[in-house]
Amino acid sequence: MSFFDPAKFTEGAVQSLKKELTGKAIIAASGGVDSTVAAALAVKAAGDKLLAIYVDTGYMRLGESAFVSSMLEDLGVQHQVVDASERFYNGLKGIIDPEEKRKIIGEQFIRVFEEEARKYGGKFLIQGTIAPDWIESGGGMRDTIKSHHNVGGLPEDMEMTLCEPIRELYKDEVRSLAEFLEVSVSHRQPFPGPGLAVRVMGEATPKRAEIVRQACHIVEEELELASTNGQMELPWQYFAVLMPVKTVGVQGDVRAYGNTIAVRAVQSYDAMTAQAIEIPYSILKKISERITRTLKSEVNRVVYDITDKPPGTIEWE
Ligand code: XMP
Repeated sequence: MSFFDPAKFTEGAVQSLKKELTGKAIIAASGGVDSTVAAALAVKAAGDKLLAIYVDTGYMRLGESAFVSSMLEDLGVQHQVVDASERFYNGLKGIIDPEEKRKIIGEQFIRVFEEEARKYGGKFLIQGTIAPDWIESGGGMRDTIKSHHNVGGLPEDMEMTLCEPIRELYKDEVRSLAEFLEVSVSHRQPFPGPGLAVRVMGEATPKRAEIVRQACHIVEEELELASTNGQMELPWQYFAVLMPVKTVGVQGDVRAYGNTIAVRAVQSYDAMTAQAIEIPYSILKKISERITRTLKSEVNRVVYDITDKPPGTIEWE
């Protein structure tokens, strides 16, 4: 593995951004480590000629908008929260194909950014794209594994000039850069740009998004608690997936016919490969009990995904 020097990288990146950004810029800020690092670099180069836009797609984690807003505030980045959930829900109506979902989401994102950029007078769109995003999207003559929302979804007629200051970096390098830049989310687990839409198998209706949002929240809380209590190490990534099957169960003495949630927790280094981890059984039981209790009328079965990447991927879509 080659040696990565965050100080040297920062100096070079800020210099090139200063040259490249000849007008106002907006940055797509998701609250994840990639886009936050890109924002931390961009604000050094563009200062108050930078506006961070956080889009609430309706497929975000519980409490995410408030969290991201306060984090950007702390970073000293001028920002705006745009609630575009209706638009994303409408765009995904009736869509079940994972690649189609990703492309629609990518396009909706760009349209929202274009509208906001027009209001702000932004000529550049900065994104926190990193190497696995474009590699898996079929860059460099590779096969398309999945079109990352920030790569495959970009429309050809986009009005802004795209600028991607960390596109050559891998996740471990981004994290070390985040530590160097004192970005508070440096160790936050990754969250996919298309959000919970790729954790709802099949049509990502608002109702199904809400189910997986609650389930993801429970998985996050329980694993973070277990790691604080020293019962296990915090996995690299951990979440819930809503499966497209219903199964028969029983509630009290009444037949139930409900949804199935899959729990996923993996260890990884750079997201290119990953291993499903062993969660202590007592914690899995607690997660299952909490999910089926909290989502009593929706979910009556919880399973655990033990697949590595490859042959699986980390997200299910
Ligand atoms: P997969 O599922 O391909 O994911 O093994 C690798 C890592 O990337 C995240 N991921 C995405 N991140 N846009 C992103 O910014 C996307 O479209 C996207 N799809 C997957 C995933 O959560 C994992 O950490």
